[in-house]
Amino acid sequence: MQIFKVGGAVRDRLLGKPVTDIDWVVVGATTEEMLAQGYRPVGADFPVFLHPKSGAEYALARTERKSGRGYGGFTFHASPEVTLEEDLIRRDLTINAMAEDDQQNLTDPYHGQRDLEARVLRHVSPAFAEDPLRVLRVARFAARYADLGFTVAPETLDLMRQLSESGELEALTAERSWKEISRALMEDQPQVFIQVLRDCGALKVLMPEVDALFGVPQPEIHHPEIDSGIHTLSVLEQSARHKQPLTVRWACLLHDLGKGLTPEEEWPRHIAHEHKGLKLIKVVNERFKAPKDCQELALLVGQYHTHGHRALELKASTLLELLQSFDVYRRPQRFEEFIAACEMDARGRKGLEDRSYPQADYLRGAASVARGVAVQPLLEKGFKGPELGEALKRERLKALKAYKENA
Ligand code: CTP
Repeated sequence: MQIFKVGGAVRDRLLGKPVTDIDWVVVGATTEEMLAQGYRPVGADFPVFLHPKSGAEYALARTERKSGRGYGGFTFHASPEVTLEEDLIRRDLTINAMAEDDQQNLTDPYHGQRDLEARVLRHVSPAFAEDPLRVLRVARFAARYADLGFTVAPETLDLMRQLSESGELEALTAERSWKEISRALMEDQPQVFIQVLRDCGALKVLMPEVDALFGVPQPEIHHPEIDSGIHTLSVLEQSARHKQPLTVRWACLLHDLGKGLTPEEEWPRHIAHEHKGLKLIKVVNERFKAPKDCQELALLVGQYHTHGHRALELKASTLLELLQSFDVYRRPQRFEEFIAACEMDARGRKGLEDRSYPQADYLRGAASVARGVAVQPLLEKGFKGPELGEALKRERLKALKAYKENA
């Protein structure tokens, strides 16, 4: 049996990037031999094992054939006769289809190294189409390596387009898609992920609500970039530039979905888009079974981002309602994330990327004023139950009025 390092570990070493996960491929072995050596099988009929000590993944060299639609539709053929080249040819990209032995001798039958140097993401063979998730993977790699100058090969983009049109993407499970989406959003250039998905027609299938924003104009006075789709990409770009967490990035992507619903005769205005967008945000959240904190923040940012921008003009009572909606007393972090998303929205506009955003500190100050209202004196006055709640609200309102006057 021969063991090779494959995939991302080889790619990233050649790129001079840190290697975290190492995947291994085992040629010339049977399941029984692996088990006899103490490797632990990962799944019932999936030829992948965990190393008895390191826990690293070792896969038997295999070929894959498709037997039906979707991920469940795979059959694996692993046997000691499958060669390294046969294993590598069924992988997604040439830069991921290189192997290395323990002496760092490279096996590169599909010219991954050449494509690494040329900065090209190119599929290895027509077997790319066996797993439609690869459309998302390529878009994710494009986002990750955009700074290095990588682009998708035209023939690969064509294949991605065919896959998107074939209906195959619809068969992906929410879990697999979300894993790719969430990883892609955490890259340094997440907007490239969305852009590549759009270029190959996958965005229209995966997130038609986001795709619909392209070509929809906004008032130039607030949005020099005009196009709502371009604006969304810029907001996402800013969220990465400012190292925001996944929750904020997800909210940035979805914050303006309502603009895709505005009747053309109302363009470039988008009356009540915040409210109209909520049902779309909910649908996208549920489609990918996004984690609860991502779902919640996206809905809150969708509903209240304009409040964020108008913070300094809001009446004390509206400010209080905003703070109550966020439950800033028990969920201070979530309000911080809302403020961050609003700031990214304000900066994700052409030429305004470095503008100041005084609303952020103003909102923080308001939250701290409302939080600072003490309950004890009200309890001492004998308030309890719903009356205590009302009294607290009155005190907070009073404090916010004073805050506004002194601001
Ligand atoms: N692979 C593939 N098709 C997929 C998933 C994985 O061909 N749908 C292959 C690629 O050769 C890939 C390897 O399996 O390099 C390991 O996959 P994975 O660990 O998911 O990705 P990495 O390439 O290691 O990339 P990352 O750095 O994102 O983990």
